[in-house]
Parts: sequence; C-alpha cells; structure tokens
Amino acid sequence: MSDLRNASEGPHPTTPGIGLSLRHTRAKGEPRFPDGPKADPAGSHFERRIRSFQPRRSRVTAGQADALQRLWPKWGLDIDGQRVLDLTELFGNDNPVVLEIGFGMGEATAQMAAAAPDTNILAVDVHTPGQGNLLGLADREGLSNIRVGNGDAIILLREMLAPDSLDGLRVYFPDPWPKKRHHKRRLIQPEFLTLAASRLRPGAVVHCATDWEPYAEQMLEVLTAHPDFENAVPDGGFAPRPAERPLTRFEGQGLDKGHVVNDLLFRRVPHREPHKEQPPTG
Ligand SMILES: C[S@@+](CC[C@H](N)C(=O)[O-])C[C@H]1O[C@@H](n2cnc3c(N)ncnc32)[C@H](O)[C@@H]1O
Repeated sequence: MSDLRNASEGPHPTTPGIGLSLRHTRAKGEPRFPDGPKADPAGSHFERRIRSFQPRRSRVTAGQADALQRLWPKWGLDIDGQRVLDLTELFGNDNPVVLEIGFGMGEATAQMAAAAPDTNILAVDVHTPGQGNLLGLADREGLSNIRVGNGDAIILLREMLAPDSLDGLRVYFPDPWPKKRHHKRRLIQPEFLTLAASRLRPGAVVHCATDWEPYAEQMLEVLTAHPDFENAVPDGGFAPRPAERPLTRFEGQGLDKGHVVNDLLFRRVPHREPHKEQPPTG
C-alpha cells in the first residue's frame, strides 16, 4: 500500500524504543500516489539533455495528496512522450488552449483560469505539491478549464502537441539559473523558441515574466532576434505588466528582495511561405 494512504490515516508506525519508521520505501519508478502522477513519466533515461528544472523532493500535504489521488485520473496528464494529444478530447471542448510552463503552486494559474473560463489552460510542472495544490484549487473553485501535466514541458511540446495547436504560451518566473555555468539550463533560448513556435498558431502570444534582470535582457534579446516572433509592444522592449497576470508566489518573493519585474509579450508571426523554386529563365 502506498505511504500516502497511510499518511492520511495518522502517524506512521514506529518500532517502540527505536523510533525507526517502518514507512514503506518505494522501489525506483514506483509512483508516490497509486492513482496520481507517474514517477518521472518521461523518464530521465528518455534522453540525455540539459534540463531547465531541478528535481525536488518536497513534502506533500494531506490536502494535496488527496487532490492528487482523487483528481489526477480526471484532470491530470502524464507527460510520457508516447502520443500526440487531442486537445479537444482532453478539455472536452474546442476552446483556445494556452500552455503554461512552470506553474509552481498554481495560484496564479487558477486565478487566470477563473477570469477566462473560455480559455483552456494546459499547466505543466514537475513539482508534485504544486500539482496537488492546483488540482485542489480547480476543484474548490469549480474550474473545469485546467489540465495539469506532470513532466518536462520540452517533451510535451516536442512529442505530444501537434503543430499549430496552441493559442498562447505563458512562462512566469522561470528558474533564473543565475550562475554563469548554469545559463545553459535557462528555458528561454533560441532552440526552445523554435520548438514553441512550431506548436503556436500565428497570432498566438508568448507571455514571459521574470524578476531576474539579466534573464529579462536575455529573453528580450533572443525573442527579438527570433524570426518566428515579433514584439507585441509597438516600440519594442519590455511590456507593461498586463492587468490579467496576477502576482505569482515567486514574483512576491522577488519583490520582497527588491527585484525589478519585467514582462515580455511576443506574437507568433504568420508562417513563412515555403521556399518556391525560381523557374529557369531564358
Ligand atoms: C521559479 S518557479 C516559478 C513558479 C511560478 N510560475 C511562480 O511564479 O510562482 C519555476 C517552475 O518551473 C518549473 N519548470 C522549470 N522547467 C520546467 C520544464 N521544462 N517543464 C516543466 N516545468 C518546469 C519548475 O519545476 C518550477 O516549479
């Protein structure tokens, strides 16, 4: 039986006098929640690649565990890279779909979903407590326009989303990776943008925000230089904070430290005409 079922039933049994926990230890690959997200769905062994996230073992509260067990079969998505998603089937309607990468604890995601019930949000993160938290919020607030993905957004984009399937992309406060030797782990890079562009419909907006100014400058530089995107701000540069983006948890921590927050809004440009062979002259 899972250690989490036990968790909601009170303290784990201990050996009297020794205090050692007899808690069930999971075998490698065994999920933490029988009905919840799979352990490492895409598999670290899937490929060798520099990742933009740091795997974290964080405590899952009883409420988050309950939400994962109850709601994952209904609203959860394991990013296993095994199939191309039918988004109409996934959401039960053909409303526009926006991908949010790295929702953290999901409070801002839930607020945006409540404010725009006709927009579907595909929210992806690897953080198990956050997945439980967002599912619980969606349940309590009656939000049916959120699906919660567990796994690496790169696998989701590359293997599981069809070309032109997304109407928007949100990346709020991605891990800043401040050390120079870690810059290669930053998500917003030209290669990532090329992949994202292939899944975004022309006109779809990429909305990024960060409180790490050197990363903001990097985002502006790579987005401006990328041929598939144009700045939605007429004179270029950073965007005023859009009213619809709520304060996120990570942003609050950055503001407490005196950080400056920058938003970026870039639009997917129309597809370029396929290169036509010039007819021979003469
Ligand atoms: C710094 S936190 C910000 C969370 C939230 N957006 C906020 O502002 O409070 C960045 C989140 O992105 C997630 N993340 C980073 N790279 C990811 C990837 N490739 N796929 C899925 N999640 C990712 C991390 O697990 C982490 O929860």
